[in-house]
Amino acid sequence: MSERGGQVIGGKYELLEKIGEGGMAVVWRAVMRGAAGFTRPVAVKKIKHEFRASDRYIRMFVEEARVGSELAHPNIVQVLDFCTDDRGSYYLVMEWVEGLDLAAFVNSFARAGDKAPWSLVVAIGIGALRGLAAAHERRRDDGNPAPVIHRDVSPHNILLAGNGIVKLSDFGLARARDRMDSLTAPGTVKGKISYWAPEIAGGGEASVASDLFAMGVVLWESLAAERLFDGATDVEVFRKIYACDIKPLNTRRPDIPPRLSAVLYEALDAKPENRFATARDMASQLADVLKKSSTSDAHNALSEEILRARHRLGGRFLPRKTPAGGIPVVASADDSIDIQFSEAGTNLPGDKD
Ligand SMILES: Nc1ncnc2c1ncn2[C@@H]1O[C@H](COP(=O)(O)OP(=O)(O)OP(=O)(O)O)[C@@H](O)[C@H]1O
Ligand SMILES: [Mg+2]
Repeated sequence: MSERGGQVIGGKYELLEKIGEGGMAVVWRAVMRGAAGFTRPVAVKKIKHEFRASDRYIRMFVEEARVGSELAHPNIVQVLDFCTDDRGSYYLVMEWVEGLDLAAFVNSFARAGDKAPWSLVVAIGIGALRGLAAAHERRRDDGNPAPVIHRDVSPHNILLAGNGIVKLSDFGLARARDRMDSLTAPGTVKGKISYWAPEIAGGGEASVASDLFAMGVVLWESLAAERLFDGATDVEVFRKIYACDIKPLNTRRPDIPPRLSAVLYEALDAKPENRFATARDMASQLADVLKKSSTSDAHNALSEEILRARHRLGGRFLPRKTPAGGIPVVASADDSIDIQFSEAGTNLPGDKD
């Protein structure tokens, strides 16, 4: 039986409307009802019916909840709760991000025959990289490093809140594959192939460097408004990733500063050891690009542009068109936007005053 609006999960989460659907789960906008009329908007994610009987997917989902709950950072979607109903279905409760995902943001420009302003794409990249850095730099209570590799960085997993804060979501594959060999079998991994690094396509282990490559692909696609590794079949995409043939960005975006292309090409290097050493390094290089090339307030500009993008799309979230997700459209003209900097540095989404 599938859920309906109005259903109450775990005695306190009321499902309101289905707002998205990914490879293995469905996401609902919901409201948490507490004592004395207390309410809080939340997102409730439920494993799809067809995967409900699969131990592997259930364990992956439990892992997503566990990993997510251990990560607390302004640029990471907070996992709040994990519950079951009387039919044994699992529900992951997350903070509600009122805004849209990066794929929808980019598509909103394409619909208007435009491309996203490069400075905003850079600001979004910095926010997502800060979330990624927090996961990579995670430590246990005893102080020992316990890095979490995301493994599924994609435009759908970068959420943009209307207040301009960038939030990375879906740590579902994060450590699951370390624990479950079966998840590495072809066809069973829910991570999007298009964002894999060449060494992953070659059968290697995911790492900080492969997360940074994925961020490079996401940013390249957000600027170009086209897929970087595209193909009619997964095999074709796989081959292109393995060859690491990066199409030139400058011909598609002649407006971007050369230093920005250089940062992206460094993240997209075929050899993991030639990429940035850390997400923090890559974020600071991007911040440097903004600082040297722009003069207005990235935080305010991003917040306004997220609201405009929602308006262009005529609603809240743009539902996914295809299970593979990503950036589907090619646009023509480009745009530019002013970004401001204070003496103390760039004012970016996720920064605390
Ligand atoms: N916390 C949240 N707040 C608001 N919307 C969300 C939230 N989490 C996810 N969404 C929306 O729901 C959609 C579906 O999310 P879901 O994670 O199930 O799939 P996906 O990210 O598109 O693909 P994948 O299965 O690879 O993760 C997202 O694309 C996003 O637009
Ligand atoms: Mg997702």
